Amino acid sequence: MNIYNVKQVISSQPTNKVYAPKKGTVEWRSPSNIALIKYWGKRPLQVPMNPSISFTLQEATTNTCVEYEYSPDNIGMCFEYYFEKEKNAGFEARIRKFLELASPYMPILQNLKLYIHSENSFPHSSGIASSASAYSALALSLVDIEREIEGDVDPHHKFYHKASFVARLGSGSAARSIYGGVNLWGRHENIENSSDETCLHLVDGIAPVFNTYHDDILIVDPSEKKISSSKGHELMNENDYAKQRFRSAKQHVEDMMKILSSGNEHDFCLLVEKEALELHALMMVSAQGNILMKPQTLSIIEEIRSYRKETGLPVCFTLDAGANVHVLYSEKYSVEIKKLIEEKLTRYCYMGKYIKDKVGKGPIKVN
Ligand code: DP6
Repeated sequence: MNIYNVKQVISSQPTNKVYAPKKGTVEWRSPSNIALIKYWGKRPLQVPMNPSISFTLQEATTNTCVEYEYSPDNIGMCFEYYFEKEKNAGFEARIRKFLELASPYMPILQNLKLYIHSENSFPHSSGIASSASAYSALALSLVDIEREIEGDVDPHHKFYHKASFVARLGSGSAARSIYGGVNLWGRHENIENSSDETCLHLVDGIAPVFNTYHDDILIVDPSEKKISSSKGHELMNENDYAKQRFRSAKQHVEDMMKILSSGNEHDFCLLVEKEALELHALMMVSAQGNILMKPQTLSIIEEIRSYRKETGLPVCFTLDAGANVHVLYSEKYSVEIKKLIEEKLTRYCYMGKYIKDKVGKGPIKVN
């Protein structure tokens, strides 16, 4: 499988370079992603315990506009953060931590004033995780600002490579939202150029059918996550099954790479579901014994499986760390699966709600 060859190490060397004062605005729109092989368990700074693979989505996006003022005379990091036009103290604290973590890799952050405005395309209470789209949009904006100030003409791949690295410092899954299509993040000894620091955009060798995949998100529970990802990752440190999990996730990544190149949708369904259930099994056997599925989640799973058995059509489910169900299927079966969702599945959704999404082309620069 061909991938960008980006073995560049991003250094945190302090630099004494000074640039001319500059003002400007950059704006990026970046999508969420859905993991097929899950990242669950990490070391500090989002170093994943196992590699993961995801589809980047199209519709669930964060739009981030950053106004900046650079001057070597500005000393210390300074920013204001607005979410959906309002100040948000909780988000601001997380952004501060993120900027501090990114600062050794982007020394100009110490001489910048930033006004950050973010908004999501999806409703607040939809149960969709927004950290991937939020941090990827912010990382792309920051790396873009760095490029404008430093006047760099880095090749395209270096820019995205650094954005993925920086996004990861905010949220692990954000590293995978830097590119469209299919992405792999996390080192795997049998996959050349795979890295814990940045993601690999899997460009060639993906059967075209997978770029036509839909991901319809059935909203079973629109409330905030019962258990944050950070807490979930932390629980893996004490999980008796952690070692087996990290081993099986690695194997699943290898198996998924073969499936993605072969185009075998039936094998795809079986592996994607196995991964989703493994994630939830890990939560159930964690110290807190978390059950994140709801009865409706199980009803939807049963309906999907019996439909697949009856019709032979390759439709499957995956889950994040919550009760909502992602229904995955290729474009060629979209008429049939839409019918399945509307006639049999929306009855289990909160107010009949579901969000239609699909594999997308990745972030775009807005201005
Ligand atoms: C279950 O990327 O949200 O969605 O790195 O702590 O921000 P942090 O965690 P996050 O974890 C995502 C967990 C997951 C699986 C996945 O997306 O791979």
